[in-house]
Amino acid sequence: MSSVESVLALVRPDILALAPYSSARKEAKGGRVWLDANENPETPAAGQPLFNRYPDPQPPDLVAKLAALYGVTPAQCLVTRGSDEGIDLLLRTFCRAGQDAILITPPTYGMYVVAAGIQGAKVVKVPLLRDQDFALDTEAVLKAVTSEVKLVFLCSPNNPTGGLLARDAVLKVVRLLAGRAVVVVDEAYVDFSDQPSLATEIPANPNLVILRTLSKAFGLAGARVGTTIADPAVIAVLQKVIAPYPVPVPVVLAALGALSDEGLAAAQRSVATLLSERARLAVALAKLPAVKKVWPTDTNYLLVEVPDSAKAMALARGTGVIWRDRSKDVPNTIRITVGTAAENDETLEVMSRV
Ligand SMILES: Cc1ncc(COP(=O)(O)O)c(C=O)c1O
Repeated sequence: MSSVESVLALVRPDILALAPYSSARKEAKGGRVWLDANENPETPAAGQPLFNRYPDPQPPDLVAKLAALYGVTPAQCLVTRGSDEGIDLLLRTFCRAGQDAILITPPTYGMYVVAAGIQGAKVVKVPLLRDQDFALDTEAVLKAVTSEVKLVFLCSPNNPTGGLLARDAVLKVVRLLAGRAVVVVDEAYVDFSDQPSLATEIPANPNLVILRTLSKAFGLAGARVGTTIADPAVIAVLQKVIAPYPVPVPVVLAALGALSDEGLAAAQRSVATLLSERARLAVALAKLPAVKKVWPTDTNYLLVEVPDSAKAMALARGTGVIWRDRSKDVPNTIRITVGTAAENDETLEVMSRV
């Protein structure tokens, strides 16, 4: 079996056999008079000339721009409604309800468990090593991957702890699980780190899937644009499961704007500002009496330990400042997003009163 075939062997057999819905827009090529999709020939509301037509299921110009941004080929990319949809698609594609499982490394992003719950997949947990700055427990992960485990979710940089997982450790897991499980590396925050993405490792490792998003560094959380990057054969299977028209026309326009030369330059400036604010906030928070620890971060947030997180959260909420209590992941911790300079000043002001 080739390594790509061994990845496809992990897909739910019923999905492999599925004939996907073939949308009118997918079948139509080179048309002139569009009477195939029961659309309105006009947009009744003025000023919105494109919105009467269904979008291209995967708009080629957007896919090409995302592929260039991520240093991969268009055939390796699937545009989704945020990377959350990528997580959901992977669960539905690889895990049979009541039979298969995913592996996660808590504390980590909550949607993996939610998507598993919706799909009826079991969850195997191998905690990150807290006393080693939440490093990956490589040997324990490898040991815990039974034949039930189809997907291993690794979040790097990790939410909520903020640090990157060591590249070598992740690649070791990917290599040793070839033919046994798909390793999904969620890189939602990698734009804020100084480490390159692992996406370039996909050709050598077809069981590696990368998740990227425009929600963070590109400031497009409201538009919902994620990219699942994988071997083209894996992308082809995910295409069977995704909704026929996942990327609405206004979203395509917003994403193309963000990926234009000016958009890319603006995102770069925004990341640079957030990184300098992150450094300022981390140093200033660490000096406050109420702050016991600020974890090192490669993201746009800080995980902060305080003596009593519920009390600190309540005080902040009373002033209209909303942080995220992460105590259920790591006792007495609060996750604080890096905001504007003025917003960060508010965080510091509130924390100084805790
Ligand atoms: C680690 C991680 N992955 C994925 C997502 C989802 O992002 P998106 O907006 O692309 O769905 C988030 C959102 O906060 C996240 O923290």
